[in-house]
Amino acid sequence: MAEDQGDPHNQDPNRRDFIHIAAGAAAVGAGVMVAWPLINQMNPSADTLALASIEFDMSKVQEGQQVVIKWQGKPVFVRYRTAKEIQEAVAAPMSALKDPQPDSERVKAGHQQYLVLLGNCTHLGCIPTFAAGDYGGWFCPCHGSTYDTSPHP
Ligand code: FES
Repeated sequence: MAEDQGDPHNQDPNRRDFIHIAAGAAAVGAGVMVAWPLINQMNPSADTLALASIEFDMSKVQEGQQVVIKWQGKPVFVRYRTAKEIQEAVAAPMSALKDPQPDSERVKAGHQQYLVLLGNCTHLGCIPTFAAGDYGGWFCPCHGSTYDTSPHP
């Protein structure tokens, strides 16, 4: 008995499946090739990534001093706290603070002497002065905010 070679409905089902899978894979590949440039253009450019981080030699800051460095146009305070300043920050009563958070959560473990923070006032963004105000942290001359050495406002 001879097979009917001309009947399209009488083809090998494995070959038909292969054609469907290959066509699907080609469609997915084409979709990825179209989508990738669109997604990739949303990544930050190399010059933007280069400005995202900064290196600073902490040994330039002496105990009791603050150094101000500039990062992305903003002042960054790098403060080397004295043992007395650390003790006062640790002993600050949480109930008396507007933004209660223990000093241990604000510094890196083992390096509690260093504070690295954006140097803008939390009120409206002025630049507070160093080691001033009622609590020895910073004082903002714009509207009178004071900060302790943790720095709690
Ligand atoms: S901006 Fe600092 S107190 Fe207003």
